Amino acid sequence: MERVQAVRGMNDILPDAVHWWQKVEATARQVLELYGYREIRTPLVEKLELFARSIGESTDIVEKEMYAFADSKGQWLALRPEATASMVRAFIEHNLHADPLARKFYTIGPMFRHERPQKGRYRQFHQIDAEVFGIDDPLMDAEVMVTLCDFLQRLGLRDTGLHVNSLGCPACRPRFREDLKAFLQDRASQLCPDCDRRRHVNPLRVFDCKVDRCRDALNDAPELGQYLCEACRRHFDKVLEYLSHLHVAYDVDSRMVRGLDYYMRTTFEVITDRLGAQNAVGGGGRYDGLMRDLGGPDLPGIGFAIGMERLILLLQQEKTWDSKKPDVFIAVVGDEAVGQAFRLAQDLRTQGVAAELGHGGGSLKSQMRRANKMGAAHVVIVGEEELAKGAVVVRHMVSKEQRQVPLEDVAAFLAGKSTIESL
Ligand code: HAM
Repeated sequence: MERVQAVRGMNDILPDAVHWWQKVEATARQVLELYGYREIRTPLVEKLELFARSIGESTDIVEKEMYAFADSKGQWLALRPEATASMVRAFIEHNLHADPLARKFYTIGPMFRHERPQKGRYRQFHQIDAEVFGIDDPLMDAEVMVTLCDFLQRLGLRDTGLHVNSLGCPACRPRFREDLKAFLQDRASQLCPDCDRRRHVNPLRVFDCKVDRCRDALNDAPELGQYLCEACRRHFDKVLEYLSHLHVAYDVDSRMVRGLDYYMRTTFEVITDRLGAQNAVGGGGRYDGLMRDLGGPDLPGIGFAIGMERLILLLQQEKTWDSKKPDVFIAVVGDEAVGQAFRLAQDLRTQGVAAELGHGGGSLKSQMRRANKMGAAHVVIVGEEELAKGAVVVRHMVSKEQRQVPLEDVAAFLAGKSTIESL
């Protein structure tokens, strides 16, 4: 029979890897809650229009990468390619701005982009996404970046760089856009066909192009930093000053435009050189106009998202985290002992001891081998002979020491209330 396989670019996360995910998620929750974020969970499917209006019609994400489909009633829907738009929609839809404490939100979950899969780039991938609504103080821009860096640091991630830029605002960006357009016009023959089209509809996107000749063409392109209006310049200077207050190292990267159109002013990315072409572990920025453009109150916003696959690939290059091992393996010798062993396993689990039962019989030797493979700290041997005396044998797998222990004391011992010496 032919096998049905997973969709290309969409991965199973198997038990041997899942503990990395759990650790990263647990740390994210702990850190984000420390900074005052509250979790929000939005649907994986939204109206297509939400993404077209927020991320931008002429971005790669919306133009080429969306999983979009019409449902049976002809309504256009899409699997979410990112979480910011959904978070803003939910905030508006549930009038969360009415609650002055509702400012910071996070979500963790799968996103979908139909990109060409390669290391660090998938069609279903996962983000940890954090958003702050209603605060335009540059201090918040700095705090958001500090939150991201703090999280990565607590996980022990090394060798990443924080790149920061300001994309200006509707007052100053149009002038830059026009100058860039004129600059690209002069170099049109050097550009790839995609960029030749982009230079008309969305010239800033040309900075995202990875094609060498487009990169070369941009060598002396106008610098966004030179075009910032007074208010944007002041805002950006403050952001950098606040970062320095906390000794956060950063590089100003005036070529970083990000792949989504909703940004204005501060944008940032955490970059690595250890993942080949996929060098962004996370990124974000300020999107003050987006909530208004989606029909909500005119509140500013800023946030970031981390790509969990990329983060975990990096962590796996430098760390080993063991998966959870059973505290005890219960080896059963003889049919008569099975019922007692089953009861003991249940007893232990009730007391918080992770117990694995040697199902399916097999010799004691083969059960010991299994216990070893699983990395159990102790083996309890439940045999007919010992049971007749109301006891079992507890063996410490590292020291190989073993004792006969009364059945009723096993749980206390394995729950750490007693030691092998005191038995
Ligand atoms: P983004 O830069 O498109 O931003 O994605 C954030 C992160 O998601 C990237 O840095 C990368 O680590 C990961 N990522 C993106 N696409 C893929 C993929 N195909 N496979 C694996 N990982 C991927 C956003 O999504 C914005 N919503 C971030 C944000 C939040 N801005 C403000 N608030």
